[in-house]
Amino acid sequence: MEFSTQYVAPEKIKTAALAVGVFADATLTPAAQAIDQASKGSLKAVLAAEFKAAAGATLTLRDLPGVAAQRVVLVGLGKADELTARRYATVLSSAASALAAFGNKEAASALVEVEVAGTSLRQRARQLALATTGAAYRYDATFGKPDADTANAFAKLSVATTRADSREVQAGLREGSAIGNGTNLARNLGNLPANICTPTYLAETARKLGAQHKFKVEILERKQLEALKMDSFLSVAKGSDEPPRFIIMQYQGGKPAGRGAKAAAAAAPIVLVGKGVTFDSGGISIKPAATMDEMKYDMCGAASVIGTLQAVAELQLPINVVGLIPACENMPSGRANKPGDVVTSMSGQTIEVLNTDAEGRLLLCDALTYAERFKPAAVIDIATLTGACVVALGHVNTGLFTQDDELAGKLLDASKQAVDPTWRMPLEDEYQPQLKSNFADIANIGGPPAGSVTAACFLARFTKQYRWAHLDIAGTAWKNGKDKGATGRPVPLLVQYLIDQ
Ligand code: BES
Ligand code: MN
Ligand code: ZN
Repeated sequence: MEFSTQYVAPEKIKTAALAVGVFADATLTPAAQAIDQASKGSLKAVLAAEFKAAAGATLTLRDLPGVAAQRVVLVGLGKADELTARRYATVLSSAASALAAFGNKEAASALVEVEVAGTSLRQRARQLALATTGAAYRYDATFGKPDADTANAFAKLSVATTRADSREVQAGLREGSAIGNGTNLARNLGNLPANICTPTYLAETARKLGAQHKFKVEILERKQLEALKMDSFLSVAKGSDEPPRFIIMQYQGGKPAGRGAKAAAAAAPIVLVGKGVTFDSGGISIKPAATMDEMKYDMCGAASVIGTLQAVAELQLPINVVGLIPACENMPSGRANKPGDVVTSMSGQTIEVLNTDAEGRLLLCDALTYAERFKPAAVIDIATLTGACVVALGHVNTGLFTQDDELAGKLLDASKQAVDPTWRMPLEDEYQPQLKSNFADIANIGGPPAGSVTAACFLARFTKQYRWAHLDIAGTAWKNGKDKGATGRPVPLLVQYLIDQ
């Protein structure tokens, strides 16, 4: 998707379709007003007769007299005092779909001028680009016939603005476009079936991304993981015939690690750790069959890390970011973990595997120990970790777990800005006794109460050396039902957080 700006009078914009906003009380935004005047009151007439301008509703008008655009798409904004950043994002998504509905390759939008409480112009431009890039997403990797339309697909949006605003709008569009591309990459990886998107495939994707954007990518294989003593991660991997991979991506946009404590602090990277279980059958503690296919999405944490690194590289952000991905399958076999097995993590702590389906934490704990060597400014892990998080928060909010109030504040702020909803969950040491084992330092499950919290408590034991937060995306990484598909969340949140650094 290509974005540009223009500052000509709205009625003179030559395009297949132009989006303008109108409020539910029939108030016209400035662009709508210009179109209405040029076309001798056509918009006001339509608003009186048939269009109620509910938030996200659209109506397309053709060949308006005095208007250069072939079509004008009226976009409902609802009531002005109810137009929040969140509602504005959904309005932009439906506007994007409506603009692309005519087999046209390009369109124009005058929706950044809409005043939305608590948002900046740059943020609105960012949201516009993100929503448009998202609406243009198509999954076509595994159909017999490729979509004939892809060659002629909607690929250009021109954004109407003023000369004075155009710099801010361009900056926002550039950010939103990169976030959208990163989100779409994460969606693609998530949607690919597990027989294609294997640990090896994830590693190759990361390697290509690094080659394209000139950042360092290292792939560790089984032998090297054995040498590192990542026996917790390997205990999960050994149940599958598919070889495991440990992916290390190092984007250096900031200062190199110079000499002295001050230089080291300035160069300290933010480390993102993504759960990369390319298929989670549950292992010997096998899952029920009904929705097991959805466990191809159990690598969406990994996908979000790859998508975020792509966006960071595309934006050339002046910071250092490391992406770590432990990737394997969780399968039942003669070599798989058995309930009651005790494994030794890279940290030296032993773990009793009481349920082989609580495998995510067994991968992540070793990756979190590995993260220590980067002397990180902060570590954030992203994982489809627990069904309990879906019970707690549903499919709306990602769960945020951290004992670090400052880091929590920054992530929640980024979540708001990016309209990528996140809710802070508790993480007190009082939950730790649930993880007591009679046969090892720690058990890998904490029983039914507060399952998403005890999972986070498990991870907390491996994160003592740095500032850390955990995002449980089990409910938000994909949609089920008729719109089944990956969302790419929380790429918007992560990229926004990194932009803010
Ligand atoms: N990948 C699953 C979590 C999951 C389940 C995400 C359903 C999204 C939807 C994870 O590996 C898992 O199986 N967790 C178990 C933990 C339990 C055994 C303590 C779960 O949530 O049931
Ligand atoms: Mn599992
Ligand atoms: Zn899992």
